[in-house]
Amino acid sequence: MSSNRYSWLDKPQADREQQAPLLLPTKEIPGSYGIPFITPIKDRLDYYYFKGHDNFFQSKINQYSSTVFRTNMIPGPFMASDPRVIAVLDAKSFPILFDTSKVEKKNVFTGTYMPSTKLTGGYRVCSYLDPSEPSHTKVKQFLFNLLKSRKDYFLPAFRSAYVAPIFSSVESQVASQGHADFNALNNDIAFDFLGEAYFGAPPSKSGSFITFQKKVTIWLLLQLAPLASNVLTKFLPKLVEDLLLHTFSLPSFIAKPGYKNMYEYFNTAGSAALDLAEKVGLSRDEACHNLIFATCFNTYGGLRVLFPGLLRRLAQSGRDWHARLATEVRQAVASHGENGQVTLGALEQMELAKSVVYEVLRIDPPVEFQYAHAKKDFLLQSHDAQFQVRKGEMLFGYQPFATRDTRVFGANAGEFVPDRFVGSDGAKLLRYVWWSNGPETEDPTVNDKQCAGKNFVVLVARLFVAEFFLSYDSFTAEISNSLVGSQVNITSLTKAKAKAGNFY
Ligand code: HEM
Repeated sequence: MSSNRYSWLDKPQADREQQAPLLLPTKEIPGSYGIPFITPIKDRLDYYYFKGHDNFFQSKINQYSSTVFRTNMIPGPFMASDPRVIAVLDAKSFPILFDTSKVEKKNVFTGTYMPSTKLTGGYRVCSYLDPSEPSHTKVKQFLFNLLKSRKDYFLPAFRSAYVAPIFSSVESQVASQGHADFNALNNDIAFDFLGEAYFGAPPSKSGSFITFQKKVTIWLLLQLAPLASNVLTKFLPKLVEDLLLHTFSLPSFIAKPGYKNMYEYFNTAGSAALDLAEKVGLSRDEACHNLIFATCFNTYGGLRVLFPGLLRRLAQSGRDWHARLATEVRQAVASHGENGQVTLGALEQMELAKSVVYEVLRIDPPVEFQYAHAKKDFLLQSHDAQFQVRKGEMLFGYQPFATRDTRVFGANAGEFVPDRFVGSDGAKLLRYVWWSNGPETEDPTVNDKQCAGKNFVVLVARLFVAEFFLSYDSFTAEISNSLVGSQVNITSLTKAKAKAGNFY
């Protein structure tokens, strides 16, 4: 890497990002919410159907010449009682969403609407709690304790319950049909891996495995339908889909029998985890509903987007990058692995694989939206101006814009650069990687809203890359859009020829 690749990083911080507040002009926040009811629906249709996500925001940035502006956010009437937000779309203003001294994050996990608590046993689970609420501390600490108690199982569980079944299924489908639907396999197999990793009890051993996946998926869809679009448009006009998905909450009773089944599995398989919960003062019932949410929504929902997203970017990066990754992985396994297998020590040697994971999480953050309410009046700074925010106003960040900010990541901010985070200059950029609702350089605590599973996610994503390039030299895939994220159909796999040393 050339020494001046990120020459702008050598500039004083003030030039680059943090102009002294007094130098920034104070401006009115541009934009308006328009006519109640009518404009929120127009904004919703623009966002979903007429302009698309990125263009919806970009056109407003262009219209107002500002990355901070007022707009309505989806889903709007009748789902959300108040769709009005202040959008923060650059790397300077976005981190306001992490500042718990200025913002409150109560009931804003899914944005301007909140799914019924009937879907979570009547509890507001951790993701909807503000750190100021006592149960937030208890639940988050419980999840930290669970992850810590299981950390030695993650790698073997990933190898036996994820890598082995998914690689063999992909190989046999490519051989027999010429392609393999990676998303479908990932959706089936990832859940079993989580059961093994968190509880040592994969649901496939509890009988009705496939129907179990379906139950979890239905439960997820009931919560996420207001954020989805173009699901039914093959069969129905757009406006009918809009009415069905975005106007009223789908009835929670649809998920009730399946949820009962999920509860039974977690209550039994997660019994040791629930013992940990009692030690921090949580009832087993509240802990069990939180365990379901953290596993099925936070983790499983996240991995359904992250792994296909990772493969998509790898497929598009091409053979030369595959070769560099394969060489790195195999050399690390040869020097730091055990019996030709990946170990945590070997993983630490794989700087390029690590960078690829951070780059995917930067350019395609699996959770694109973050929301918060102002706790008090304050001045919000973008790169170019400062704006008065009033107590109670809702802030909204569209993360893919903030983490593709050219003023932080340079002219190629919109491109996937696999080695962006390699080396000491690359490491300096990690504080602008925010997929976990906080900087990648920080760890989550009970006092903030950063993802409780941050380190688990980075670990399994790095393991995914390592295991993949230990087994394969290269691959090709057809990419399209899925309900959330990318749809990946693997069309060819080249099995590993060289164990270590130079790939070429
Ligand atoms: C690819 C996987 C994942 C992604 C993309 C992801 C992303 C996120 C994001 C963006 C938030 C903040 C949402 C907000 O408040 O606006 C969050 C919160 C949270 N995540 Fe994750 N997450 C993932 C996996 C996990 C895992 C493995 C766990 C396991 C425990 C987990 C547990 C949580 C919890 C409990 C919260 C709420 C934190 C709090 O209330 O302080 N997540 N996650």
